[in-house]
Amino acid sequence: MSLFTSSTQTVPDVGAVPRHVAIIMDGNGRWAKKRFMPRVAGHKRGLEALRAVTKACVSRGIQYLTVFAFSSENWRRPQEEVNFLMNLFVSALNDEVDRLHKNGVRLRIIGDLSRFDAKLHHLIDAAEAKTAHNTRLTLTIAANYGGRWDLLQAVNRLCHAHPEKAGSYTEAELAPFLSMAYAPEPDLFIRTGGEQRISNFLLWQLAYAEFYFTDLLWPEFDGAALDAAIASYRQRERRFGRTSEQLAVAREPQVPPVPHAQNENA
Ligand code: IPE
Ligand code: IPE
Ligand code: MG
Repeated sequence: MSLFTSSTQTVPDVGAVPRHVAIIMDGNGRWAKKRFMPRVAGHKRGLEALRAVTKACVSRGIQYLTVFAFSSENWRRPQEEVNFLMNLFVSALNDEVDRLHKNGVRLRIIGDLSRFDAKLHHLIDAAEAKTAHNTRLTLTIAANYGGRWDLLQAVNRLCHAHPEKAGSYTEAELAPFLSMAYAPEPDLFIRTGGEQRISNFLLWQLAYAEFYFTDLLWPEFDGAALDAAIASYRQRERRFGRTSEQLAVAREPQVPPVPHAQNENA
């Protein structure tokens, strides 16, 4: 593998657009509060923003968009808000999947789905199956997701699969059990809403992502805001522990060796 093709093991090229964008869609409640509306009205507008940003990702050539829709800690919210979010999830799956499918979007849901009811399981399975072969964009919704849950479930499954190797597992052996094993690691992480924290989102996978924080509230985030994040990303030098000088050398075009050049001064 060349120095510029993979993620944390090697150095991916920054490129025109990030291959994988991960977003914490935060600020729905504050957006609504500012307008004297109930918090849940912000979630409704948040879904509209997600629709627009998904479209923008397709048109920009981004291959993976992963969004945090409901964290494993969000069950702590008032029951009415949790219920509203669950119903919104169900209606989004009912209403959006055909459109996503037409636009070539593959849909994946990650998280601890065991807490969801049978109706939601059925909708998730059907949406994933229908869109499984689409290739323009993979949209991953993290629902009842927690980065610690993900690591633990991966470790537990790895132990189960290879008990004989306990005590000597490698990163490469763990990685296939993580819930986003089908995607490269995020290149660009965006959090709206002004907070600068991970809130238990993708802990393993964000190890070397570029972070971008904006005070825009999620319902305000759109294609132009995405472009601003991408512009910031393009300014970054991703070093993955190396020095700038090493990266410059690796980027120099490879000059084909002159035949017998090594004998010139012999
Ligand atoms: C993010 O917006 C959506 C979810 C967590 C489901 P919030 O609901 O957290 O909005 P704020 O942070 O309270 O404004
Ligand atoms: C993170 O937002 C989770 C989602 C956006 C789904 P929160 O609003 O729950 O995060 P904290 O509690 O402010 O860290
Ligand atoms: Mg919040």
